[in-house]
Amino acid sequence: MIQKQKGCNDIYGKEAKIWKYVDTVIDALMEKYNYNYIRTPIIEATELFHRGVGETTDIVTKESYDFQDKGGRDITLRPEGTAGVVRSYIENKMFGDPNQPVKVYYNGTMYRYERPQSGRDRELTQFGMEVLGSDDPMSDAEVISLAVNIYKMLGLKEIKVNINSLGDNESRTKYRDALIEYFKPHIGDFCEDCKERLEKNPLRILDCKVDAENEILKKAPKTLDYLNDESRIRFNKVQEYLDIMQIDYEINPTIVRGLDYYNHTVFEIEAKVEGFGSNNVLGGGGRYNGLVNQLDGPDTPCVGFACGLGRLVKALELEKVKMPIVEDIDLFLMYVNEDEKKYAAYLSQELRLAGFIVDTEYTGRALKGQFKQADRLNAKFTCVLNSEDLNNNEIKIKNNETKTEEIISLDVLIYYLDEQISALEADDNDECGCGTNHCHDEKHECSGECGGNCHCHDE
Ligand code: HAM
Repeated sequence: MIQKQKGCNDIYGKEAKIWKYVDTVIDALMEKYNYNYIRTPIIEATELFHRGVGETTDIVTKESYDFQDKGGRDITLRPEGTAGVVRSYIENKMFGDPNQPVKVYYNGTMYRYERPQSGRDRELTQFGMEVLGSDDPMSDAEVISLAVNIYKMLGLKEIKVNINSLGDNESRTKYRDALIEYFKPHIGDFCEDCKERLEKNPLRILDCKVDAENEILKKAPKTLDYLNDESRIRFNKVQEYLDIMQIDYEINPTIVRGLDYYNHTVFEIEAKVEGFGSNNVLGGGGRYNGLVNQLDGPDTPCVGFACGLGRLVKALELEKVKMPIVEDIDLFLMYVNEDEKKYAAYLSQELRLAGFIVDTEYTGRALKGQFKQADRLNAKFTCVLNSEDLNNNEIKIKNNETKTEEIISLDVLIYYLDEQISALEADDNDECGCGTNHCHDEKHECSGECGGNCHCHDE
């Protein structure tokens, strides 16, 4: 039997429905923030990530899926989305669009050759957003608040936002020198990679996976002590906007992020729910004012964020968040003879096009088996098509919950189903669905656990 590749996942069944639901919520929120969807290729020139993400990052040195295509080109499966978006921004001259800043979001698979473990996959799906062309600290705060609001909209409660600043180039250079001086006498105790990183890029020692528990590393100088006045004022401004937007956060000077392109604001959002395990960073991002220029575009200040959807779904499951996942169907059509089967084929089509979720029998089960299948599918209504009824332009329809049956004219079937299903849904809405879907209709507000942000099933 051929098996899936290590660190890759098949997503199906109920889990696939959760993934789709997450996508829907994210899409709706991104629209509210006026971001445009962007799709860039999964394959890019290897050079893009070497120059963009950084020669000394783990992503490039150890985790990169590189190959040569049949034309001898050096290709890499994208490990993240930012570099591709920046390439596209430059190549498509989006900087020339008067509508600045360019605000885009994406959702797709990324590839990192990591040691597979819980929360660390080789094929991962990221949702990400980038703001290109704004240096305003309000943009940093808005990206952080948008990231937080995604988790909140989905119903997550146990999250923590950590922010830090790496400062501008001058501050980063001062900090770099301080790190070299600090680590130099101890570097013999560090892994071979860190020895190399010392001169090339000492910041990367701070996120070394091998030496993470080394006490010397833990006591290393902190970025905030090396910020110049301009960078400090900027970081204060970001915090001021976060306070205005009522976003809870903590300043965590150990956050440096694992990619080289950042300056000024960096942030990560952690899952705090019990049982999540150590790879608990749900998402992270920050400002990268130098990247567009570094990739041969004009000087363009940018800020962005990306979130691992696998980790997000895991957090939703661990927090037992109720989600409006459709796990039932409206109607299951049953039949015995060939004429009735043909009518099932016709009617299921009609009803689906009228907006109902309809299924029927495809595997030759006897009627008893069809009833069982209807139960497995949680059919709200069932119907045994019967030639005699059909000849009389009638249909017998059964409410699968109350077990009551009615014979109705085929002419009013759509109207009847519509009314009956709306009545069932109205019953559901009487119960508060705190913490689930996203109706902001005032009449659906509740005063329960959700604090008035209750979500009905109307959307
Ligand atoms: P990143 O921190 O490398 O940032 O990845 C963002 C998120 O992707 C992580 O917080 C994590 O949830 C998820 N992730 C990363 N690697 C894996 C993995 N191997 N398995 C499962 N999930 C993973 C970036 O990628 C930047 N491009 C973010 C950004 C956008 N910065 C500015 N704009």
